[in-house]
Parts: sequence; C-alpha cells; structure tokens
Amino acid sequence: MQYRRLGSSGLQLSALSFGAWVTFGNQVGRGAAREMIAAAWDHGINFFDNAEGYANGEAEKVMGDVLADLRLPRDGWCVSSKVFFGSAVDPRPTQKGLSRKHVHDACHAALKRLRVDYLDLYFCHRPDPETPIAETVWAMDGLVRQGKVLYWGTSEWSADEIREAHRVARAHNLVAPSMEQPQYNLLDRARVETEYAPLYADYGMGTTIFSPLASGLLTGKYNDGIPADSRLAQEGLTWLQRGLRGERIDALRRYAALAAELGVAPSTLAIAWCLRNPNVSTVMLGASKLSQLLQNFEALEATRRFDDALWERVAQSVA
Ligand SMILES: NC(=O)c1ccc[n+]([C@@H]2O[C@H](COP(=O)([O-])OP(=O)(O)OC[C@H]3O[C@@H](n4cnc5c(N)ncnc54)[C@H](OP(=O)(O)O)[C@@H]3O)[C@@H](O)[C@H]2O)c1
Repeated sequence: MQYRRLGSSGLQLSALSFGAWVTFGNQVGRGAAREMIAAAWDHGINFFDNAEGYANGEAEKVMGDVLADLRLPRDGWCVSSKVFFGSAVDPRPTQKGLSRKHVHDACHAALKRLRVDYLDLYFCHRPDPETPIAETVWAMDGLVRQGKVLYWGTSEWSADEIREAHRVARAHNLVAPSMEQPQYNLLDRARVETEYAPLYADYGMGTTIFSPLASGLLTGKYNDGIPADSRLAQEGLTWLQRGLRGERIDALRRYAALAAELGVAPSTLAIAWCLRNPNVSTVMLGASKLSQLLQNFEALEATRRFDDALWERVAQSVA
C-alpha cells in the first residue's frame, strides 16, 4: 500500500480506501462486510468511509460491528461519517441539514452506530442552503475541540462555499476544513481538476474522492445492457442509468477496448487513472463482492506500468 497525506495535514491515509454507500446494509450483510474489511486491512487500507444516510444508518451499524468484531487496533485505522441527509426515513427539519443541532445530534448518533469514541473524519455531505456556513463551521470546531472529531471537511461543496468556510474559520480562529469529498473519475473531472485547482495550494485541501468507477460504468459491465445483480438495476438507483445515454456507451466501449489492448481490467485502469492525480489523497473504493475489491487493489501496481502518453490515450478514449 501507498500512504498519502490528507492535504497539508499530518494524517496519512492509504491511497486506496473503502466505503459503504449502497452496499453495506443493502447488498452486503455483516458476513460479506467482515470479509471485505478484513481483506482491505490485510492490503494496508486504513480508511473506511460511511455516512448517516447510508441505508438509514444501517451501513454504520454494520461497519461498526465488523470493526469491533475484527479487533483491529483503533489507532491503526480511520473511520468517517457524514452529516446532512439524515438517517430517518422521512427526516423532520431538525433531523437533517447542517444546523448546529443536527450536526451535534448526527455526530453522536454516528459515534454510537460505529461503536467508536471519535470520528477520524467528519464531512458535511452537501452544502445546506438553510444554514449559514458560519453556524456549521462553529459547530464543527466545537466537535473537534471536544475530541469527538479529528478532521472535518465538506462533500460536493462549491469552491466558493469552501472559501467561505475558510474565511469564517480564519476570522474567528476556528478549526478550518481539511478535506473535500468530491466525485472524481474519467467521466467526471471538472470539479477536481478545474474548479478546485487553486484550493489545494491556498488551503492545503486534501481530497477523498468517490465513485472512481462512476458507479460501475467504467468496469465495462454495462456496455451490453444492465446486469440484474448490478447497482444500476437496484430499486431507487435507476437514476444512475442516465449515465448510459447513446454516445456514452460508445465511449465506454472504446475505453474497454483500450483496456483489453493494454491487458488490464477496465476497473483497474480507471482506479489507477484517479491515483495518478497528486491532489487525490485517497481513492475510495466501493464493492458488493470481495472479488471486485481484490481486482480493484491491483490499481496501485497499474499506475506504475504506463507512461504519460498512454494515460492521455486513456483519457481521450472516453472524451
Ligand atoms: N460523498 C458522497 O456524496 C459520496 C457519493 C458516492 C460514494 N461515496 C463514497 O465513496 C465510496 C465509493 O463510491 P462508489 O461505491 O460509487 O464507487 P465506484 O467504484 O464508482 O462503484 C462501486 C460499485 O461498482 C461495482 N464494482 C466495483 N468494482 C467492480 C469490479 N471490479 N467489477 C465489476 N463491478 C465492480 C460494484 O457495484 P455492483 O456490483 O452493485 O454493480 C460497486 O459497489 C462509497 O462507498 C462511499 O463511501 C460518497
């Protein structure tokens, strides 16, 4: 495994990490989760990502039970949660968002579900137009000072919103956000590569990027239809099928053909491509099966196999 600093912080995260969205508490029960977390740990992964909203809190319970059951040393791994969407099925106004109240309540609920005394990373899962950014920054600062959160950050905030959070933190001597959790993959590059470009140097911002396979589009599994046991076939996730419009399928087929020519799995190549960006602190993997995770671990080796000209061909294949 390779370890990278989370931006300018001193926290070293494994370059590949493992998250629970859609899978834990839905497709993946405690047995399979245990197998995958154990394999991840054995491969040097030290960061496990979660959120209050994943399977309405069930994903955190599964992860918390497995981490406790495996008896891995608490100082050897990091776990995250995220606040915004709420864990209730039909959340009332105080059960969602980024108000001081919900940030407080959600943090304590996540600590219980994950069975930990503190969250290593805590994210504001989306910007909240109903709460002043200053209120959220004060709330996060409070949790850090109480020792309940070590590093806080944002997810899918605009560059302007992130700048505002830093301005408030600086003005009041509060703990500023350390990281952002954006989507980043071969099909979705603009935010990480362009919009956020000045933030890495200005604030030492780290990134824990999600959906490196664009929810599986970059595995090649959707090039000839939607397999029944795949993410895009799941109830409630059919909106992801919008990513399969006509010209996109052509691009995905070109991409899969290039991967075949290079003798590497499309998923491995796509994850390796994300790893090449030095502003990526960690690439968060998702998997519904152990075999997928094991294949995706091969990405680290693949980053070393190809030169810049080849990586440009990879990017062009889906352009
Ligand atoms: N902050 C946010 O808003 C946000 C949003 C999304 C995700 N995340 C985090 O980021 C993590 C990773 O995101 P993601 O799950 O969307 O990542 P992804 O890598 O884009 O998609 C993972 C899914 O692709 C399929 N897959 C993975 N490897 C495969 C392989 N080798 N062959 C075939 N299929 C494969 C599996 O789905 P199937 O087997 O079901 O098809 C798997 O669950 C999440 O778990 C979550 O922790 C955060």
